[in-house]
Amino acid sequence: MKKILITGGTSGLGLAAAISFLEKGHEVYISGRNTKKGQEVLETIPSQYCERVHFIEHNQGEKSSNEKLISYFKDLQLDVAIFNAGVQFPKEKVGNSVCSETIRINYWGVRQLAVAFHELYPNLREVLVTSMAREKPPHLDFSSFLFHNPLRPRLEYKVSKEMIYLLYFEFLKQGYNLSLLHPGVIKTNIYSSEAPTIYRLFNNLVTKFTPIKEQIGDLYYMAALSEPGYYALDGFLEMRGKPCRKPLKYPKKRELDAYLEAVDKEIPCF
Ligand SMILES: NC(=O)c1ccc[n+]([C@@H]2O[C@H](COP(=O)([O-])OP(=O)(O)OC[C@H]3O[C@@H](n4cnc5c(N)ncnc54)[C@H](OP(=O)(O)O)[C@@H]3O)[C@@H](O)[C@H]2O)c1
Repeated sequence: MKKILITGGTSGLGLAAAISFLEKGHEVYISGRNTKKGQEVLETIPSQYCERVHFIEHNQGEKSSNEKLISYFKDLQLDVAIFNAGVQFPKEKVGNSVCSETIRINYWGVRQLAVAFHELYPNLREVLVTSMAREKPPHLDFSSFLFHNPLRPRLEYKVSKEMIYLLYFEFLKQGYNLSLLHPGVIKTNIYSSEAPTIYRLFNNLVTKFTPIKEQIGDLYYMAALSEPGYYALDGFLEMRGKPCRKPLKYPKKRELDAYLEAVDKEIPCF
């Protein structure tokens, strides 16, 4: 039995993954911003698992809340931490404050947690969640990001998740026990009673199919408990419903350093 933390485990993919780990006999810690919502979610989890699931209040966009989360696990011998919590604001809601908040939650929060957990447990398996499946480094135009005011809708989300992709390589260089996960494009809440829908682009064709819960559970399971690496749902139709693992090209050192330098200089931190 492994002890597994899933941030943002109160809905969507995080909750689906939590259920999957519980079904396989593991002890699961889910976090979210709201205790009331957390307790309500715990009540929906099948009673046979209730002794193995815990909720922790946590806001990934706040430095002190991240520190509190880390101190909660100081003596718990955690095996896996899945940094799943993330936000994407609606496209009507654009502007610099939304941009800062998105970057703070999706990037700086994850970075702070991943570094601190690694210091606490050097062998901990850490799982980062990105958004676009890739085979080579992203090419982001920082000039459009910095000087477009207000920002183009959703660009801040893309930037925050591309930075997670690069964080993966930065941490790999430092010897982290790491997986990067691209869960596919899913209309959440996939753990609600409504039929989940997944949209996927194959060449120029948008495909829509259902269900996805078990596949998401499998994907998170592979990233968390099998060998480290990059996992993506892309192409799983060809794999007859089984999630597949894709190879990922390591960016050139020059590209990676320049990119991370730009990120550290230009993107607001806590
Ligand atoms: N759905 C997709 O198509 C898709 C595609 C690619 C990548 N992803 C990534 O997969 C992850 C999960 O996505 P999802 O679609 O399952 O999202 P979701 O249904 O919106 O769930 C997000 C979770 O994150 C938590 N959360 C939000 N803001 C937080 C904060 N500031 N601090 C702590 N927890 C916070 C939420 O909990 P509370 O509300 O209780 O705080 C919730 O449990 C995200 O990182 C997302 O970017 C999703």
